[in-house]
Amino acid sequence: MSIATLPINPPSRLLMGPGPINADPRVLRAMSAQLVGQYDPAMTGYMAETQELYREVFQTGNEATLLVDGTSRAGIEAAFVSLIEPGDKVLVPIFGRFGHLLREIAERCGAEVHLLEREWGTVYPPSEIEAALASVRPKLLAVVHGDTSTTVAQPLDELGALAHKYGALLYSDTTASLGGNTFLADAWGLDAVTTGLQKCLAGPSGSSPITLSDAAVEIIQARKSVEAGIRVEGDAVRSDPIRSNYFDLAQILDYWGPKRLNHHTEATTMLFGARECARILVEETVEAAIERHRLHGTAMVAGLVGMGLELFGDQSNRMNNIVAVRIPDGVDDAKARAAMVADYGIEIGTSFGPMAGRFWRIGTMGYNARRDTVLLTLAALEQLMRRGGVPVTAGSGVDGALESYGG
Ligand SMILES: Cc1ncc(COP(=O)(O)O)c(C=O)c1O
Repeated sequence: MSIATLPINPPSRLLMGPGPINADPRVLRAMSAQLVGQYDPAMTGYMAETQELYREVFQTGNEATLLVDGTSRAGIEAAFVSLIEPGDKVLVPIFGRFGHLLREIAERCGAEVHLLEREWGTVYPPSEIEAALASVRPKLLAVVHGDTSTTVAQPLDELGALAHKYGALLYSDTTASLGGNTFLADAWGLDAVTTGLQKCLAGPSGSSPITLSDAAVEIIQARKSVEAGIRVEGDAVRSDPIRSNYFDLAQILDYWGPKRLNHHTEATTMLFGARECARILVEETVEAAIERHRLHGTAMVAGLVGMGLELFGDQSNRMNNIVAVRIPDGVDDAKARAAMVADYGIEIGTSFGPMAGRFWRIGTMGYNARRDTVLLTLAALEQLMRRGGVPVTAGSGVDGALESYGG
């Protein structure tokens, strides 16, 4: 039998990097369920339940809460291509790699993009964003919530009111933060929010939950153009439709709504997974899940500090679920991470751009935000560093975490 015909049998890994992380076994079980037809009442029932569950996860009453098929950036692309018309002004405050992604996608939608830039690892005081809103007057203010590259989260609580004061909508990418950090879509005035499953939601990548305010839906609906072949008398047709068919939220909303417009074939297996991710979170309660991420994230930080590692970024705005540390002098990043995998089966990550090879990012998120995973990772990392000649006191990492747990 040639190697290509062997069944999938991945090695056992503990994924303690910036995501993806190990999926909750409940999610994997849900994803092994048999398919049903896309208009089977069972399926439309699951779709409606998924919408209701994600309203709770996003903390919103938005009717327009659904899944975009594809990884997290599919959600971003769908939001941007559906909201932004060529020439629209978009303001993007960048403080890490994923702000650059928002800029890139907005530019590809033909937006006139205005940037704010800041040192990675810091966040914006609302006054800086307000000044830019006042001078640019954008249609959309697009901000990453937690930028995974730096591990820091931009406070959003004042930005909705500020955006609205200057006539803009507020969008946020919560791929890295949702489920592990406080996020209140309605209370903070968000108009569009997208996320992914592969971090605090304990699932695989491949589905992007999204929620849209009534104001965002109004803009999208005004751009609706129903595709030929399914169009019926009275349906909207435009000569300048949303520039993506697949990510056309006007049509996707009609697919998820009472019309059940025949758009794409829903990725049923991903929907089963996304639904279970939200079910797990809602069962635990969103508040308890955030507290769990805080507890284990804090213990991880205490262990790393206990080992003498230097933290990166504004710690008062660090996400609960991920931390970055400077790689000690003399340690080869690639070799150390390869040894973590080879000897312990544990994966941690480095970062991007100016941080690549200089910092490690260690996640405690979703299914892996647990005491055993924290202690195991610290024990392995400490052993590895001592072997590499870094002067680390034996037991200092695990001791630091245990102290943080209260013993
Ligand atoms: C904050 C943030 N935004 C967007 C993305 C892109 O997500 P995906 O790779 O699922 O498309 C990531 C991926 O890690 C992310 O961390």
